[in-house]
Amino acid sequence: MNPATQPSRERTPASRTAASPGTVTTPGRSSNGADHAAPAAANAWRRSLGAASSPDLKLAMAASGTVLSVFTVGHMAGNMQVYAGRERYNRYALLLRGAGAPVLPPNTLLWVARAGLLASTAVHVAAGTELTLRSLRAEGRTVGDVARQTTRRLVTLARNLPRPRVFVPRTEAPLAYRRAAFDGALLPDSFDARAPRTRPRGRRRSVPQIVARSMRSTGAVLGLFVTYHVLDLTTGTRPAASRSFEHGDAYGNLVGSLSRPVTAAFYAASMAALAGHMVHGLHTAALDTGLTGTAQRVRQVDVAAKAVGAVVALGNLSIPLAVQIKVVR
Ligand code: HEM
Repeated sequence: MNPATQPSRERTPASRTAASPGTVTTPGRSSNGADHAAPAAANAWRRSLGAASSPDLKLAMAASGTVLSVFTVGHMAGNMQVYAGRERYNRYALLLRGAGAPVLPPNTLLWVARAGLLASTAVHVAAGTELTLRSLRAEGRTVGDVARQTTRRLVTLARNLPRPRVFVPRTEAPLAYRRAAFDGALLPDSFDARAPRTRPRGRRRSVPQIVARSMRSTGAVLGLFVTYHVLDLTTGTRPAASRSFEHGDAYGNLVGSLSRPVTAAFYAASMAALAGHMVHGLHTAALDTGLTGTAQRVRQVDVAAKAVGAVVALGNLSIPLAVQIKVVR
């Protein structure tokens, strides 16, 4: 049987009858009263996200991801004004704060936008976490299994790093793999959750496959980046911000920050994560919302997602580079 259709190990008959159609019960729910001991936050999570259907969670991810992408595109376009000089860039930063004046007090629209961004980020991360937990449960794995597997992989990677790798061409699949009997099922009958998940040697993942599998890692990098970035350029909190940080001088703060080679390298690396996350995320959002009805539409969405991701990442990437080579100073 396909393990994705197997009931979770932690699901009890009682919890199964209690669940409404299309919902998946969450772990930790047992008939021995463990529920009462569970922290209030876990219960709240179960009642809200745990009760939502997976398609609804995917739609929530698509909607919040689109809001964040629109902000990122707009922010990159605004950042390009750095090439127009200090005065112009600082005027643009002031414009954002004074938007809506004199009808609205200064910073009102800025705070509305900040609240929208925070809410979208919270929805995106929470729905992504719940979907990840569900997919692990369907495979009969736990977060601990993933942590152990990742640690094992990192250790193996570190051990193998200095050695040159032998490249086996794609067409020559190992004999054992080619001879493996196909038993008519998509997944094997017996599913050992703890067995190492190996790929036949010589089968390398394509770049889109790597990007798709790295969504959680690139998302985590972006979370780290945005936290650092706000401390660096918005609040001016040391040591994230440079010594020269001054409230009201967005241009000077940007140049001061990105003149530090390590910070510039971190910004540049984060833009690679941003590109991968946006390209795959926009593509998936289009699929999940039914925008891709035909093969031609799928291709168009693919091209559009790649174009948006590349333009945003390259536009942003140009800024730390320009500061490092002193085109912007
Ligand atoms: C090299 C690329 C980037 C540069 C040079 C840059 C520059 C800036 C600057 C100067 C500010 C402060 C504006 C002000 O206080 O007036 C800012 C704020 C911010 N940036 Fe960026 N940014 C970059 C990339 C990004 C990316 C990729 C994201 C999101 C994925 C992002 C998210 C934000 C957020 C959330 C704020 C805080 C806005 C606020 O609350 O005021 N930035 N950025």
